[in-house]
Amino acid sequence: MSAICDGRVVVVTGAGRGLGRAHALAFAAQGARVVVNDLGVTLDGTPHTPGPTGTRHTPGSTGTPGVLRSDGPAAAVVAEIRAAGGEAIAHGGDIATPEGAASLVTTALEAYGRLDTLVNNAGFLRDRMLVNLDEDDWDAVLRVHLKGHFLPLKHAAAHWRAEHKAGRTPHARIVNTSSGAGLLGSVGQGNYSAAKAGIVALTLVAAAELARYGVQVNAIAPAARTRMTQRAFAETMAAPATGFDAMAPENVSPLVVWLGSAASEGVTGRVFETEGGRITVMEGWRPGPALDKGARWDPAELGEAVQELLALAPPPGAVYGT
Ligand SMILES: NC(=O)c1ccc[n+]([C@@H]2O[C@H](COP(=O)([O-])OP(=O)(O)OC[C@H]3O[C@@H](n4cnc5c(N)ncnc54)[C@H](O)[C@@H]3O)[C@@H](O)[C@H]2O)c1
Repeated sequence: MSAICDGRVVVVTGAGRGLGRAHALAFAAQGARVVVNDLGVTLDGTPHTPGPTGTRHTPGSTGTPGVLRSDGPAAAVVAEIRAAGGEAIAHGGDIATPEGAASLVTTALEAYGRLDTLVNNAGFLRDRMLVNLDEDDWDAVLRVHLKGHFLPLKHAAAHWRAEHKAGRTPHARIVNTSSGAGLLGSVGQGNYSAAKAGIVALTLVAAAELARYGVQVNAIAPAARTRMTQRAFAETMAAPATGFDAMAPENVSPLVVWLGSAASEGVTGRVFETEGGRITVMEGWRPGPALDKGARWDPAELGEAVQELLALAPPPGAVYGT
């Protein structure tokens, strides 16, 4: 079989570990040249590796001074790709800053002369029950996931719009990373669930706005064994002694690579759940049973009316953790 990403240039954010690393390796194996971004932060987003100048990367400050870092998890993945005969370059910037996001695009253009696919994947968790959730934990998680999707998307889209205007309409692709938490809600993850739900809405708007420039935008809701999940869901995530290791992060990457390739022409504005060997098209909010009085309701009438409607509607999916 031929490589489906031959000639393409792909940026993957948060690609130093876990799912992003698997995506970067899979894109390279399919012929893509890859910009491997990772800020190299801990599971809760705090810095733990010194930058090249000896300063520490603090999420919220610019990641620019260390953008092309020669250490850290992004560089390790670049080394793996190169060892396998592929082409890649490391980017150590913070994707939730304008400088970090803009330099993702300039790094791709300066290193390889083009950009075809953006995979938004970077993120971290600050899980707390809502009554204990500090404003800082809310802000940090909304920032890295939601702003960390918006800013790279905006800069990549501006490049593709310019290409389109110059008569070079691209077959560009954006793959965003949501979560079951964003689709159904997850107890103890109010900040994360809100951010991941926002990413779904952002995906729908981006797909609608960017189609005219040759850009397709889809989202995945993955499940896999990474540092994010291996402790909280140890049993579900464990690798079996024999047989198919369904929770290996590498199982999520084929769909991401296909969505990020020219082969996915015509598929946009979709959300896919992907885990092991299963791919599910997620069907979003759509009108269910309705009642139109043709006039304003009296609040006292609504008890009966709403019960009537709910009796006709399927029950909602269970929130994770209930
Ligand atoms: N693992 C799962 O089962 C699962 C389920 C649903 C969604 N997700 C989502 O998948 C994505 C990848 O998660 P993972 O499980 O591989 O986690 P991970 O912690 O292994 O990888 C995330 C990477 O993002 C990097 N990162 C964090 N903030 C960054 C920033 N500001 N700029 C650049 N890089 C940054 C981290 O350094 C880390 O290497 C996340 O968006 C996560 O929410 C994962």
